[in-house]
Amino acid sequence: MKQNIITIDGPAASGKGTLARRLADHLNYCYRDTGKIYRLIGLQAYQKGLTPEDNPDAVAKLAQDLAENFDLSMMDNPELKSDHIGQMASRSGAFPVVRSAILDLQRHLALHPPYGCGVVLDGRDCGTVICPDAPHKFFITADVKTRAKRRFEELKQADPSVDYDLILADMKQRDERDFARTTAPLRPADGAITIDTSAMDGDQAYQAVLDKL
Ligand code: DC
Repeated sequence: MKQNIITIDGPAASGKGTLARRLADHLNYCYRDTGKIYRLIGLQAYQKGLTPEDNPDAVAKLAQDLAENFDLSMMDNPELKSDHIGQMASRSGAFPVVRSAILDLQRHLALHPPYGCGVVLDGRDCGTVICPDAPHKFFITADVKTRAKRRFEELKQADPSVDYDLILADMKQRDERDFARTTAPLRPADGAITIDTSAMDGDQAYQAVLDKL
């Protein structure tokens, strides 16, 4: 059942999303971004004025409702892309009650893709928690300054006033939370191949993954 699952985990702006999408296209697999599920929870918490640290149970309730009413088209909401919602996602995902509310949904997305196609699963704990038996597990990383620089270049195109130092501080804060949380902390899964893309461009990182499949 799990032979067609490739998990791609790693920190923010490591390039894993672009890489995972490209890999899914190439293999004709479905691409499933678990970060978007956390972002949907973060967005809803934000819209309701909830502070995750003060209201973890209320955020968990949002996560449960989301799991019960989930539709793939929800992932297309452009509001999910902002760094602020990324932070809300990370803050919400620090609570075990929130994580457990969406675990079955994420497993379902990985194990029951339409037409039985393979799945490339993108996130933080895909190889450690969601699908630990996946035959191909990758951990894509890069040093934090390189990742902040990449995010800076990306955001600068839309807004020339963006501040690199703020982006770096934001990224360090998100790393700290994602790596240090007690439940499902960000780390390479057992048996995962780690690829450090600090000195690679997108094509080189993609090729490095293809070489290991
Ligand atoms: O991959 P992303 O930037 O869209 O993820 C946003 C946040 O969601 C990330 O900082 C932590 C959380 N997340 C998580 O805790 N577990 C996942 N499998 C995916 C994302």
